[in-house]
Amino acid sequence: MARRPGRFLLVRLVLPPAGEEPAVAACWEAGCLGVETTSSAVDRHHPRLTLKAYFPGRIAPLRLRRRLAASLRACGVPHRGPLRLTTLTDRRWVEDWRRSLRPMRIGRRLLVVPEGCRLPPPRGRLPIRMRFGQAFGTGEHATTRLALRLLERSLRQGDRVLDLGTGTGILAMAALRLGAAGALAVDSDPVALRVAAHNVAKNGLRGRVRLRQGDAASARGRHDLILINIGAEVIGALLPGLPDRLAPGGRAILTGLLLENETPLRRAAAGAGLRTTVALHAPPWAALLVQQAAPSPSVY
Ligand SMILES: C[S@@+](CC[C@H](N)C(=O)[O-])C[C@H]1O[C@@H](n2cnc3c(N)ncnc32)[C@H](O)[C@@H]1O
Repeated sequence: MARRPGRFLLVRLVLPPAGEEPAVAACWEAGCLGVETTSSAVDRHHPRLTLKAYFPGRIAPLRLRRRLAASLRACGVPHRGPLRLTTLTDRRWVEDWRRSLRPMRIGRRLLVVPEGCRLPPPRGRLPIRMRFGQAFGTGEHATTRLALRLLERSLRQGDRVLDLGTGTGILAMAALRLGAAGALAVDSDPVALRVAAHNVAKNGLRGRVRLRQGDAASARGRHDLILINIGAEVIGALLPGLPDRLAPGGRAILTGLLLENETPLRRAAAGAGLRTTVALHAPPWAALLVQQAAPSPSVY
């Protein structure tokens, strides 16, 4: 996100509140860099939200219109007429967007606090300080939130965690906040790793979250909990090797998959000896918690 200085394209959508989640999913699907929503109607009988989605300026407007219209249709968001795009300069976008950011409650215990946000965090929540705008994993996307909710349910005190496709480092940092002993966080993108390193330091977790650049398939060692929010295709390719990366009784959280990918991935997981114990949905997204069906014989 915002790796290239220059222009950004802004799309504004006005929606009923029920349309927020699928519209946000559609914008992310279409490649947006960030979203913000504000209440835009005072009429309590017809509440409306304005959703602003920011896209890289290098995308041709016609292509973006087509891509976003297709994503909105696929996510079940009715939209009539052409989508209106506004061009923004780099600085205005960053300023507008940063001003709009507020701490975000996620799950029962976590709170993402945007860098520079001066609002006092509510008591009783575990804060994760976050730099917005350069890597995926700020807590705005449904798959990140699904993964965090499963993490809250499945993490055991002292777990050793492997976070594949760490982005901003959000899942690894949340695991530490919730009681993990340590995490290895891997990403193939050097920009994401720079953002993750910044976040890890700002959260006082240097040394407890280890960052490594590389492909998810290259991660080694055995871990109590593996977190993967990369996408169905990558997860499908990783599944056969996953049991060898899990300690006895190990679990994995898999997300980044669409609802239609759930059944094939559950089957692939079962084929690899992993039982699906929980499935969470935020249409069009799904997340699975899988567990070793039996201890891996190679451990003994
Ligand atoms: C959808 S983001 C997830 C970020 C964060 N973990 C979250 O849950 O919000 C996926 C991340 O995986 C990284 N990635 C994609 N394919 C990868 C691969 N084969 N190996 C390692 N990282 C990969 C991307 O660079 C990106 O940062």
